[in-house]
Amino acid sequence: MSSNESATTESMLQESRRFPPPAAFAEQAHIKSPEEYAALHKRSVEDPDAFWAEVAAELHWFDKWDRVLEWNLPDAKWFVNGKTNLCFNCIDRHIEAGHGDKVALVWEGEVPKDDGSFEIERYTYNDLKREVSTFANVLKARGVKKGDVVTIYMGMVPQLAIAMLACARIGAPHSIIFGGFSAQAICDRVEDGQSEIIITCDGSWRRGKPVPLKQNVDDALKMTDRVKNVIVYRRCNNDVQMQAGRDHWWHELDKDASDDCPAEPMDSEDLLFILYTSGSTGKPKGIMHTTAGYMVHTYLTSKLTFDLKPDDPDEMYWCTADIGWITGHSYIIYGILANRVPTLMYEGGPNFPAEDRFWDVIERQKVTKFYTAPTAIRTFMKWGDSHVEKHDLSSLKVLGTVGEPINPEAWMWYHRVIGKENCPIVDTWWQTETGGHMLTPLPGATTTTPGSCCKPMIGIDAAVVNSEGEEVGTNEGGILVIRKPWPSMLRGIYGDRERFIDTYWSKVEGMYCPADGARVDEDGNFWITGRIDDVILVAGHNIGTMEVESALVSHDAVAEAAVVGFPHDVKGNGVAAFVILRGAIPQGDEADALKKALTKHVRGELGPIGQPDQIRFTEALPKTRSGKIMRRLLRDIAAGNEIKQDTTTLEDRTIVDKLVAQGG
Ligand code: PRX
Repeated sequence: MSSNESATTESMLQESRRFPPPAAFAEQAHIKSPEEYAALHKRSVEDPDAFWAEVAAELHWFDKWDRVLEWNLPDAKWFVNGKTNLCFNCIDRHIEAGHGDKVALVWEGEVPKDDGSFEIERYTYNDLKREVSTFANVLKARGVKKGDVVTIYMGMVPQLAIAMLACARIGAPHSIIFGGFSAQAICDRVEDGQSEIIITCDGSWRRGKPVPLKQNVDDALKMTDRVKNVIVYRRCNNDVQMQAGRDHWWHELDKDASDDCPAEPMDSEDLLFILYTSGSTGKPKGIMHTTAGYMVHTYLTSKLTFDLKPDDPDEMYWCTADIGWITGHSYIIYGILANRVPTLMYEGGPNFPAEDRFWDVIERQKVTKFYTAPTAIRTFMKWGDSHVEKHDLSSLKVLGTVGEPINPEAWMWYHRVIGKENCPIVDTWWQTETGGHMLTPLPGATTTTPGSCCKPMIGIDAAVVNSEGEEVGTNEGGILVIRKPWPSMLRGIYGDRERFIDTYWSKVEGMYCPADGARVDEDGNFWITGRIDDVILVAGHNIGTMEVESALVSHDAVAEAAVVGFPHDVKGNGVAAFVILRGAIPQGDEADALKKALTKHVRGELGPIGQPDQIRFTEALPKTRSGKIMRRLLRDIAAGNEIKQDTTTLEDRTIVDKLVAQGG
């Protein structure tokens, strides 16, 4: 472990605001009080076999498991020798219980029709079963067998959900690639996963324009000859080239296929999907999730975190993620459908046709549970409250966030402007690798505090430790670890055993290490201080980049901030802040005065070690297409280095060029 991964975070964000769940909400919740949470959590970690068996028994099994867990660090087998099918549990189980005519999935298109209204489609469980079974038969007819990896590269259309459920139905692991990725990314993933079939669209709508998905696939397939079949769903009617023998239209294959395809009984540990996630460096890791454990964990966490109520006719859940990310896999499709709650899928961007689109969707679709990302929330803050105020958001009951730490000021805005101070906020910490929620408030039980992801999920044994694996004291920074196996834990990195062990199991002996720094406060709430590699050592003190960012964002003038370290002659490292202002960027003396004011403000919040040495104003931050700030690029810019790094995952390269040109 390097010295800047050591254990103390000496600058600490002070946060004393506390928000207990509204009493009326708590009364009707699955978990109603902190005491109930604590008792259940204790039982779940002390006797995990009994606890997880109870949860699993709520689902359908062709054959019951022999043992709940076989643990041979780092290899877990959950629900050993059980036979189940996740697609069956998301669809057929509900039909068998008499809910076939209930709405399972609502889809809303991005582009307005001529009369200004939007395309909306509703699928009942019966509809989904028919569509999924038909497409499952299409896949079989193209030679796809149990165990074959199917690559999916589509926009947010219902057929994406149908395709993934069809794969799960026949036991073909899917490998979904986010529609914003390039030809190279497709080629790399197809090769790594040895996948011979791709399902794509002609194009996908993004801010009113078609993204040429099929063209990207064609470009990728110039670099590999592994793929034998490409199935193309027609969405945008943009021009595409169809290669005879290889490329087929979805609607042509679909029209002759039977809609009878019984779900395949899968072994609990059969591979369900691969999902690639970028490490901080190097080639993407194909994270493997298997059938039963992933199913049970996403089922339970969806139910508890969002307090899902299948029998409430008003329930309408919306997660704004793309299905190309783990959030979409777990919390648009599998976990939500398994709970028999309608899931809303929105096709496009938050600012099309206007910056109030999300609030318009919530009002029209009467969304009750809403799940989005801090980066989106900060953007909405920047766009201003007037877009929100045009809409009636009174249907909302729970607000969720995921993807990065949420700054307390963004949390407060979410609470006040979106939740009208009446919706519990669930700040969910988890990863592609964990499959489902790991640290989160439960909306009826947890007193939340802005910026903290609060408590371990039921069934999760999380702690903050030093490099020897010993728990550190209250408010002492350290390494976040998970000490016991959980059902939806990754089973490995596809084709790379060594990297699996190296990345997750070798930092702290005997424990899963997600590479996030954290601390636990006096109330037992967890605070993520940033990636371990994002901690900056300034004059021997650890500064969590996130804490400086939150301090900056708590200043009235600041909308968003990203903080990185840069080499400093005296202190070892200095703190550089890239700041997006709420208003126009000032020039000359005015800019200097604002920089001074911000420095003073941060010093007031965090003490002198946290104060930035460099502040740069910018109109935007370099982000990956999934919205993560690319700190490694900012580190180079702050250090005055030439940008030699790979910038292919960047959403907009011009931002980097402008920052470089602007200088320090
Ligand atoms: O650093 C943590 C951050 O995102 C990482 C996982 O990224 P990914 O695999 O892309 O999954 C994102 C969606 C689950 C974590 O290691 N992260 C995610 N959620 C939070 C978070 N950091 C702080 N608070 C969160 N709620």
